[in-house]
Amino acid sequence: MKGNIFLIGFMGTGKSTIARELEKMLNTECMEMDEMIVERQGMSIPDIFEQYGEDYFRDAESELLIDLKKKENVIVSCGGGVVVRQENIGYMKESGTIILLSATPQTVYERVKNNRNRPILNGNMNVEYIAGLMEKRREKYEEAADITIITDNKNVEEICKEIIKSLEN
Ligand code: S3P
Repeated sequence: MKGNIFLIGFMGTGKSTIARELEKMLNTECMEMDEMIVERQGMSIPDIFEQYGEDYFRDAESELLIDLKKKENVIVSCGGGVVVRQENIGYMKESGTIILLSATPQTVYERVKNNRNRPILNGNMNVEYIAGLMEKRREKYEEAADITIITDNKNVEEICKEIIKSLEN
């Protein structure tokens, strides 16, 4: 494994689950950006958005990515909106391989519909909104990705094996 592995992709594409499984399979450490930001800020993601706004949260993401450049051979599960800031793509490219997990809006909806921890989807929990936001971000995700893995109708093991195979090529 050369450098870090960054898992990116829309909310509900399985980044955290896959990162934890890869941690075991590759015997390395996994880091969860959202959790690290919550720890640093001492408040939940919905509270950060409500009290300080999205820009503040995006600043925290950029700062964290700069810090993560010091790490070696870790798996980073990124927040779904990390590609929104162009400079973040550069920070990730400088420190490792970027793997995009993709899923259809319907799959994403099924995976996130009962979760209240995603302020971006507050009041917008429907397939149409998810499809629209995904389309808006699509170019950024594609620009960032070194490897793309489709996750629809695949289990965790299948996805991880596919990732490991792509990393070996
Ligand atoms: C966001 C995705 C979330 C979290 C925040 C914003 C986004 O991460 O960073 O709620 O803008 O897509 P997950 O993709 O892990 O849910």
